[in-house]
Amino acid sequence: MEILRSVVVLLHLVGFAVLFGAWVTEAVSRRIRFTRVMDWGLTIAGVAGLILAAPWGIDYELNYVKLGIKFAILVVIGALLGIGSARQRRTGSLPPVMFWLVGILTLANAAIAVLW
Ligand code: HEM
Repeated sequence: MEILRSVVVLLHLVGFAVLFGAWVTEAVSRRIRFTRVMDWGLTIAGVAGLILAAPWGIDYELNYVKLGIKFAILVVIGALLGIGSARQRRTGSLPPVMFWLVGILTLANAAIAVLW
């Protein structure tokens, strides 16, 4: 059970790496745009995160305030990616604030996980 939970944590980290890595790639190349890879990263991190939010394979209490905040941030990132990608397809450009928010909120979720 414990090893299975560790595998899901690993998947969760892969999702984070894919989302944040895809975002950093665009930011460093000075391309203000969302990519499909970001959607995949968020989906992987989100599904694995929800599985980890259930109390299995651990002998301590989960912090549901922390998990609730992480979930709310995930929903906001998802909305930004969804609305932003649609806008990008329609107009050919993405408002920079949406792009930067996705990077900041992704990092914020990782920081909450590690520092709280
Ligand atoms: C963009 C979204 C997210 C990012 C970037 C993210 C990032 C991370 C990172 C980096 C860790 C590793 C922390 C560590 O090993 O100390 C972690 C752990 C965790 N995350 Fe997330 N997370 C996200 C969304 C979520 C969501 C939506 C949930 C559930 C509501 C969640 C639940 C958890 C749990 C339960 C752990 C602890 C795993 C354990 O040690 O058992 N995460 N997250």
